[in-house]
Amino acid sequence: MFEKGFKIGVPFVDAQHEEMLKILFKLEKAVKEGRDEQEFSGIVEELVDYTRYHFTQEEQYMLDEGLPNYENHKRHHDNYTERILELQQKHLEDKKAMSEELIDIMKDWSISHVYNMDKRDLK
Ligand SMILES: [Fe+2]
Ligand SMILES: [Fe+2]
Repeated sequence: MFEKGFKIGVPFVDAQHEEMLKILFKLEKAVKEGRDEQEFSGIVEELVDYTRYHFTQEEQYMLDEGLPNYENHKRHHDNYTERILELQQKHLEDKKAMSEELIDIMKDWSISHVYNMDKRDLK
């Protein structure tokens, strides 16, 4: 499930990415199996919370290590956070429509952010 190519070589970051993916897969499974809304919303919340926690940790690491792309990297995190909070809000208002879109956006973003930005900026 967690491919080698996905690793960036900073152990705590890799562990957190793995955890994020686990929650994403759990969310996808909940949709496919038609789990109830309450369970789905709970997993969305877990993912949003964990993602924000991960961003804070990553940003602190960049500051501690004096890594050069901090500002730009943080801006990407902030934009994404804003977007998923918006989607989460939409989902709470319209329970049916949002699930697939939410998962697609989260998956695409997480994977491309890790491959393109975390890999480049965290070492
Ligand atoms: Fe990351
Ligand atoms: Fe990042």
